[in-house]
Amino acid sequence: MWFQVDRTISKTLTQQVYEQLRQHILNGDLKTNEKLPSTRELADLLGVSRNICLDVYDQLAAEGYLIIRPKSGSFVAPGSLFQNNKVNQQINNKEQFSEDPQDMIDFKAATPAMDHFPRKIWGRLAKDVCEGSPETIFGYQSAEGILSLREEISRYIFRTRGVRSEPHQVIITSGATQALFLLTELLIQNNKLVAVEDPVTDEMRTIFSYAGASLCPIPVDDKGINPDGLSQENPPAFIFILPSHQFPMGVTLTIQRRIQLIHYARQHNCYIVEDDYDSEFTYEGTPVHSVQGLDPEKVIYVGTFSKILSPGLRIGYVVLPQDLIEPFKKMKWYTDRHHSSLEQLILTRFMNEGHFDRHIRKMKRIYKQRREALVNSLKSQFPDCVILGHAAGMHLVVEIPQVDYHQSLMNWIQKYGVKIYSVDQYSLVKNTHRNKVVLGYGSLSIEKIEKGVRRLKEAIDGYTEYTTKRESTTER
Ligand SMILES: Cc1ncc(COP(=O)(O)O)c(C=O)c1O
Repeated sequence: MWFQVDRTISKTLTQQVYEQLRQHILNGDLKTNEKLPSTRELADLLGVSRNICLDVYDQLAAEGYLIIRPKSGSFVAPGSLFQNNKVNQQINNKEQFSEDPQDMIDFKAATPAMDHFPRKIWGRLAKDVCEGSPETIFGYQSAEGILSLREEISRYIFRTRGVRSEPHQVIITSGATQALFLLTELLIQNNKLVAVEDPVTDEMRTIFSYAGASLCPIPVDDKGINPDGLSQENPPAFIFILPSHQFPMGVTLTIQRRIQLIHYARQHNCYIVEDDYDSEFTYEGTPVHSVQGLDPEKVIYVGTFSKILSPGLRIGYVVLPQDLIEPFKKMKWYTDRHHSSLEQLILTRFMNEGHFDRHIRKMKRIYKQRREALVNSLKSQFPDCVILGHAAGMHLVVEIPQVDYHQSLMNWIQKYGVKIYSVDQYSLVKNTHRNKVVLGYGSLSIEKIEKGVRRLKEAIDGYTEYTTKRESTTER
């Protein structure tokens, strides 16, 4: 049971304790027949007088929420569960800490700055494309996508990432998500094993499992995925890697390990699938080239416009070795025919007329400022914290000494109007990263970032105080 009272607001302490206990009963946090702490214990925990707790228990018993059994305690009465009670939820929302979703500061990673989508230019190009394109564009097109866009992408990824491709190897997909799903279906036909970095994004690994793969977790350390963890006896169909900015740990895969991975793939005749989701945004040093550039026959490169522009566009692409092109196109066709031709043409113009490069430069500045604000706030609120990973992308990992992000702390933190994500939730092998959290800053303004970190500090301090009090009460 987590709640606090606030002496700075106008509600009486009795009212606050009553409303919060009642809410815990109604929404099932306190289960039927569960024993409540004694009035003395609760009073100690909350730092209020015992009379307040006696009054509240009497009131709740009178209303039928509690059964008071003399000499044995107070218990939740059967039939008191009533979930989704919006009215009660509002009453329970404290004035001090907002659980209002509108006010929640959500450090979810991989969410770009939607407030900076180039609406005006995109809108103008959309109008031009719609009014000026030939009639055929409104009919079915081929599965691989519009050639002019594939040419633009092929040039762009060579120039910025050293990816070696001919436009016919580039297939437009509905985001990296579809590319990865179709690739899995295609590549696991004879071998269901897929090696994934551990930790890794839960969404991506679910895509593989959903397509029928069995996952082999390979640990990530400060040099990236460790190829020594790959099985020599049972090699996977492919190894999924995020080499430029591992998610969530943020490390860049060293060249030695890249070479080691390629040797492994050649020796065991498997593929490497390289997901290059946010490599445009590097704030220190120069971006490292793709792994695909080292061996285009063994490495399949997956890219997306979700982070640079918007996930709402649903445009991604895959660069395939020659022998996978035709089977992949067939799967794409039978999945959804092809991606929207109009959207593809708008994006082609956006890239071709130089808006794309300008947009990336602008967003890089914005994300860099947001990252700096987050790092500075963390260092000022938690001077001992350690920021992990390469300065890139839209998220970072932070370790705050002595803080273990177990579920009850995560729940507690949310009550302060801030949402963070533990690295452990992305781990396949659990309990290896319990002291680290991922903080995404892409979609948060500097003001929100600073406020969010202040709330985090208040939450962690509040929790420490609460557990100390609870321990001393139990000892007595
Ligand atoms: C590792 C990774 N790659 C790619 C993506 C982008 O997916 P999509 O292009 O389908 O939006 C995400 C989305 O969060 C991601 O976490």
